[in-house]
Amino acid sequence: MHTPKPIIIGHRGAAGEAPENTLASFELALEQGAQAIELDVHITKDGEIVVCHDGTLDRTTNGSGLICQQQWADIQKLDAGAWFSDKFAGERIPLLSEVFDLVPKGTLINVEVKYAYEGRMESALLAFLRGVDRNEDVVISSFDHKVIQRLKRAEPALKVGLLYAANLIDHGAYAKLLEVEVYSLHPHHHSFEGSDIALATADGLAVYPYTVNELSDYQRMIDAGVTGIITDFPGRLKAYLNSNS
Ligand code: G3P
Ligand code: MG
Repeated sequence: MHTPKPIIIGHRGAAGEAPENTLASFELALEQGAQAIELDVHITKDGEIVVCHDGTLDRTTNGSGLICQQQWADIQKLDAGAWFSDKFAGERIPLLSEVFDLVPKGTLINVEVKYAYEGRMESALLAFLRGVDRNEDVVISSFDHKVIQRLKRAEPALKVGLLYAANLIDHGAYAKLLEVEVYSLHPHHHSFEGSDIALATADGLAVYPYTVNELSDYQRMIDAGVTGIITDFPGRLKAYLNSNS
């Protein structure tokens, strides 16, 4: 049976070649042929949704401390590119809305919710998504499956996905345990065998393993029949898919 090529999902943009979760990184991912991007979100003290992997500013900016304890006006002044390379000095932590403005309609945006922040993230995210009206383009994922369940209950039109790193006995059956419809599974790429994926996709689930960067692992994902591959190197994956189809 012919399986379609997996879609290319740029992890934090093109995190292997640009400072993760910056507009430069998302632009590069799109230029390299990513059909989707993955990003991580946190919330500032004054309720803005910002795109950053860590809950703290220390690793990827010239600031420090928790994002949730600081105002957006201060966070927006920080440099989020120089730590990666001088070439990217001046990149900022973007607001989620700025990434949505950058990414063309029809390109999938996988928003990974890192923490619930006692429900503040869910409220802010639901308000934002209602405002932009792009549910078709969005998949919300999280390692916190209760957040996912609550978001889907609150907004049934949302596509939601489960992140996990456990080698589950039956991936599709786990997704059915939630009391809401799950759109996608986002397993760590070592947390399944090929046969698991066939069962899940037969159940109608999209499967987007993370974070896959080596050519041999690309092939393993293709052989397993995944729907998409989350990678730090969208260009590398594109070249591999083109030369091996
Ligand atoms: O969404 C896939 C992947 O990003 C999950 O792990 O730590 O890279 O956000 P992490
Ligand atoms: Mg992530």
